[in-house]
Amino acid sequence: MEKGTLKPELVVSEDGSHTLKVAELKEHYHSHKGALRESQHVFLKHGFEVFSNRSELRILEVGFGTGLNALLTALAAQPQKVTYHTLETFPLNAELVSELNYAQLLDSDHAAQTFNAIHKAEWEIEVPVDECFKLQKIECPIQEYEAHESYDLVYYDAFAPHAQPELWEPEIWTRLFAMMSHQGVLVTYCAKGQVKRDMKAAGFEVEGLPGPPGKREMTRARKP
Ligand SMILES: C[S@@+](CC[C@H](N)C(=O)[O-])C[C@H]1O[C@@H](n2cnc3c(N)ncnc32)[C@H](O)[C@@H]1O
Repeated sequence: MEKGTLKPELVVSEDGSHTLKVAELKEHYHSHKGALRESQHVFLKHGFEVFSNRSELRILEVGFGTGLNALLTALAAQPQKVTYHTLETFPLNAELVSELNYAQLLDSDHAAQTFNAIHKAEWEIEVPVDECFKLQKIECPIQEYEAHESYDLVYYDAFAPHAQPELWEPEIWTRLFAMMSHQGVLVTYCAKGQVKRDMKAAGFEVEGLPGPPGKREMTRARKP
């Protein structure tokens, strides 16, 4: 995918939350069956909540996009202390971001302030969004990212294999495995058999879990 070639267009998914449609890739940023529901189910319920008894957590997200996963995680991170690093190769423009309705649907001033702080945060440096959530947005493809510390949790939220096959190659799982801590967890909405086999070959223990509405399965991988 060439940098700067995407022309995302705002659409409403089936739970009323916005997502972005990318006609060039025949892809959406989230499930059209419900963006908010998908994010809550895949990344929060089956990822973040695994670590509910931990006081500190380091998260890597692949694909910052609209910042929805970052927002939900920041709102859930009380009293935990979360450091959240997120990779993106195509930052969205501020005008499009200002139209997204996540904070309205979550219906709290805190959600609106947090969403604004996440998007206003400077890129490439670690910024405290609030007392529990530190954010670093990094403009770098996962294929080139060099981590300086290990992550407990990875949100793998790249475009689907048919749209960006290079983001689902076996080397990606080997790279991520090396960046993760012992008992670290990786979650993704994708449940493709080849992806799961490649994750196993990289050393992960892999499980299929029920997917969000409209999707039979999702994947969770654990570094033993
Ligand atoms: C499915 S969308 C992400 C949705 C996002 N997590 C959200 O909540 O809006 C995939 C994202 O990955 C980004 N992306 C594309 N190539 C990438 C790469 N090589 N490394 C990291 N991110 C990439 C895209 O620009 C897009 O924002």
